[in-house]
Amino acid sequence: MYSDVVEIAKRRGFFWPSFSIYGGFSGLYDYGPLGVLLKDNIINKWKKAYLDEGAIFIDTPNITPGEVFDASGHLSRFSDIAAECDSCKSKFKIENVLAFNKIEIIPKSVDEALSISEKNNLKCPVCGNIIKKIYNYNLMFRLENSNFYLRPETAQGIFVNFKLLSNYYRGKLPMAVAQLGKGFRNEISPRQSLIRLREFSQGEVEVFFDPENEYWKDLFDYDEITLKPNTGVEYKTSIKNAFENRIIDNIAMAYFILKTQKILNDIGFKNDNIRFRQHDPDERAHYASDSWDAEARIDDDWVEIVGIANRTNYDLKNHDAKSSERMSLKINNRDVIPNVIEPSYGIDRITLALMVQSYHKNEKGYNVLSFKPEMAPYHFAVLPLIKKENFIKKSMEIYNMIMSIDSYVYYDETGSIGKRYSRQDEIGTPFCITIDYETLENDSVTVRFRDTGNQERIDKKDLLDYLSGKLK
Ligand code: GAP
Repeated sequence: MYSDVVEIAKRRGFFWPSFSIYGGFSGLYDYGPLGVLLKDNIINKWKKAYLDEGAIFIDTPNITPGEVFDASGHLSRFSDIAAECDSCKSKFKIENVLAFNKIEIIPKSVDEALSISEKNNLKCPVCGNIIKKIYNYNLMFRLENSNFYLRPETAQGIFVNFKLLSNYYRGKLPMAVAQLGKGFRNEISPRQSLIRLREFSQGEVEVFFDPENEYWKDLFDYDEITLKPNTGVEYKTSIKNAFENRIIDNIAMAYFILKTQKILNDIGFKNDNIRFRQHDPDERAHYASDSWDAEARIDDDWVEIVGIANRTNYDLKNHDAKSSERMSLKINNRDVIPNVIEPSYGIDRITLALMVQSYHKNEKGYNVLSFKPEMAPYHFAVLPLIKKENFIKKSMEIYNMIMSIDSYVYYDETGSIGKRYSRQDEIGTPFCITIDYETLENDSVTVRFRDTGNQERIDKKDLLDYLSGKLK
């Protein structure tokens, strides 16, 4: 299904590899006209969910001075172990070379990786040569001849502004600060279209709170959730049970895991196709004391789409120590550097995973993307049955009428009506409005539903109310 979706994405204008006229460069992707609309719909759901939470939003530069990443630990610790072949010059993450050589250990340091390599004569997955070069590879892009970097996460723009934001928010906690923006990582092996990019979109939220206050304790409900803790197997439970049994040992973490599930449901993910997996201790980022990933099913794999980390007060404490700003707040005569829970949404992976999960073939064998109606790039398509002046004139009247209540309307008069329905199914348009012979006689149209192919006849005077109802 993944490969079908990637093919549709390129052919129909969702996304495609960037700069292909110059040969293409891995890890860089363009969004086309439909992809931009779909991605925007995802972003709007994320944004609304956090506005409802009382979050505030900021927008900070992509280009960031090295001092920030020195304090945050990214300069010294944001790296992967790389293995490079001297013969064919291919570069890999060490995990991929070990998997190719059927070795199950994941080394924690370059020294450990070198010792595994010496004992096992690791072969290059591309040319079979023995790999000898193994080293730490920092994932940040540095701007040439400068001490500036492209940020690998949007989060630091929030942390460095903590004091200004807290003043704006009158010192209240919890305070959720969100930022939508680009992150940049010089991935060793960018791959699988939108999954591992060099430049990608993140919607990050830093939730600052006083760890001695349990703000979220009354907010649980009993929604079922699939958890895969690092101590055991995957199982279904409620978030309340998971917290009471200390599977998730932080109430803020539990709250934002459940909130993430609700946002993903609202976007269109079914619970059977998502799960929350806890990182193993040696898998966590350098700043995290606990991390759970929301993973989405893509074919037979589970792919991380959202990372939810307990960053404690690691970042604020380091900026407090290394910058000119003090990051503590006075709370009941205590000096508190707040703790942080960070749900970080990878917008590109969510877009791809949603397309894969929405994809199926209908009974005629044609492609369909069954997005929730409000998530589809276009909500309505207006189609004259035949390309004749009186049909086109009436269609434009209906098109303009629908445009007065909703801007996501597509007009198509090219090809047979069957082909045009299939085209709309393939891009996920939930409702096609057809102007036919009867329309010219009695001012009624047919509305066809993407998921069933069924049609209803509706009077023009009732059409706007009818369509608004369907969209809701
Ligand atoms: N600030 C925390 C942070 O950046 P992360 O788990 O590295 O955490 C968060 O990234 C999300 O960003 C991931 O869940 C993923 O969806 C997305 N992401 C990370 N690296 C990516 C890449 N190279 N390409 C596409 N998306 C990526």
